[in-house]
Amino acid sequence: MCGIVGYVGARECTEVLLNSLSKLEYRGYDSAGIAVFENGEIKTQKSKGKIADLVAKMDSEGKLMGHCGIGHTRWATHGEPSDINSHPHGNANVTIVHNGIIENYKKIKEFLEKKGYVFESETDTETVAKLLDCFYEGNPIATIQRVLDEVEGSYALGIMFRDYPNRIYAVRKDSPLIVAVGDDEAFIASDVPAVLKYTKKYYLLDQDEIAVLDSGRVEFFDDHGAPIKKQLLVADFDEEAAKKGNYPHYMIKEIHDQPTAIRTTITPRITDGMPDLEECGMTYDRLRDYNNIFVVACGTAMHAGLVGKYVIEKIARISVTVDVASEFRYRDPILTDKDLVILVSQSGETADTLEALRLAKRNGADTLSIVNVKGSSIARESDMVIYTHAGPEISVASTKAYMVQLSVFYLIAFALAYANDKMTAEECRRLTAQLQAVPEQIEEILKTPEDCQYVASQLVNAENLLYIGRGLDYALSMEGSLKLKEISYIHSESYAAGELKHGTISLVTDEMPVIAVATQRDLYDKTISNVKEVKARGAYVVLVTHDSKEVDNDVADCKIGLPTIDDLLMPMTAVVPLQLIAYYTSVLRGNDVDKPRKLAKSVTVE
Ligand code: AGP
Ligand code: GLU
Repeated sequence: MCGIVGYVGARECTEVLLNSLSKLEYRGYDSAGIAVFENGEIKTQKSKGKIADLVAKMDSEGKLMGHCGIGHTRWATHGEPSDINSHPHGNANVTIVHNGIIENYKKIKEFLEKKGYVFESETDTETVAKLLDCFYEGNPIATIQRVLDEVEGSYALGIMFRDYPNRIYAVRKDSPLIVAVGDDEAFIASDVPAVLKYTKKYYLLDQDEIAVLDSGRVEFFDDHGAPIKKQLLVADFDEEAAKKGNYPHYMIKEIHDQPTAIRTTITPRITDGMPDLEECGMTYDRLRDYNNIFVVACGTAMHAGLVGKYVIEKIARISVTVDVASEFRYRDPILTDKDLVILVSQSGETADTLEALRLAKRNGADTLSIVNVKGSSIARESDMVIYTHAGPEISVASTKAYMVQLSVFYLIAFALAYANDKMTAEECRRLTAQLQAVPEQIEEILKTPEDCQYVASQLVNAENLLYIGRGLDYALSMEGSLKLKEISYIHSESYAAGELKHGTISLVTDEMPVIAVATQRDLYDKTISNVKEVKARGAYVVLVTHDSKEVDNDVADCKIGLPTIDDLLMPMTAVVPLQLIAYYTSVLRGNDVDKPRKLAKSVTVE
């Protein structure tokens, strides 16, 4: 979602703000702006559109010059994308950038209007800026606290007061914000990659803690205004890891990062060939404790949970319910202290997943999160966390994060099955070794992308598409379908192959290509029967299956073959061609692959 940056130090701050904002572009945005202290006054420049539009404005109006400023890329929630609605908001006295939603903004607006304030924009954010101005009596921290007492909703805020030039105040609740420090300079940012060009040292802000940045000196205050000390962290990746190198897009780079990401994620969690999750608190004793497991997440992370469900239920015989977080949090789920709720999130900041976690905790369930971003809200608030080590994922379309989420689910499933006597140690070792063999198989698949490129050329003009599969293949094809629609804008659905004839097959014509996934040998013949049904109705069929399977022309128009590994693990390799097909189709359609229209990388609002 939107990006916030801020800088105080000796550098020319407009340069720093623009550079840092550009590193947050991947999060998705529709307008950009900055505010800078110039000769003791707060000056603002903002524009609808891309950062390039803001730069064009600066080129014609002149660049703001100063050493302290805040910047913002907006993903509109209240009011259309426009110059006026763009952030920063405020007046000559106090100016802010905001990420999140102020839920009671109407009430605050009415209160302020009665006091004579006139609103320029349609945003909820402007109410916070004006409330700060209204309450201000000379003490910024006391003012911020008073405003926070009134405000309901989520926020990360960067604030500048005219009376305190070269100072930035920052605070957050349920929206991400970090404070970074270099030599005699300090930064705020929505996430670490924004500042990696300048520093790897940063602090995490907790809920309602206030940071004051003053030329390299950073002070923190708790929600009562008392000074606090915070732990300085060092990013475990550098600027290079967040660059796309020689690849044309982040997405294809991240697809190629997958073998390394799996290795880095699973190797520290395997001891003597057996899964070992003790470091995160998941002891074998604990694994025997659970009656039910819930997996709660959004989008791709939820799809990883679907694969997890099939695998855990199959080998550990524990019931797993997978829920979309936005449904789970409002459906009054039945939870007990014998249940485990697994939250899955790349960003660790997804608003619905975070609220689902809080709900699970309130209901006494154990919570375990599978999270990629270190120190993110979901990771910090859950009882146990297994970090996936994918490194920064920049492309909005998630690929390597999904892959490492899958690999963690396999480790959990193997450990659960073994702990609950559903699997011998020997079988557990065999499957763990198979999991360790997956990265090499993916490397092989990535050496020959030509089949996927060819399929993309066949799909490029399609308007609708179907993915079908059974069991694990069905779970997997949901991810294939989401990947295609989010970056190619081709409408696609994933269907349980056996369910097709209960209605949806009426849509199948020669204008509806079908991608069938058939990697589960016990279900192969059944899926092939369904494939023949769509072929008989004129569909162009792509079949993703084992290399070793002979496929007749009357079954599929094109086969994508995969190396053989235990069927249980096939989703990890089978997803790769689905990612590649989505990627190449998007490229052929001339789309902005890494920043698909209307999407945001990290969805920090409901
Ligand atoms: C993935 O391609 C999507 N952009 C999206 O579905 C994403 O997986 C979802 O928003 C969840 O994000 P999270 O993993 O950061 O919680
Ligand atoms: N709700 C605010 C707005 O619409 C902030 C949106 C954002 O997080 O970018 O302006």
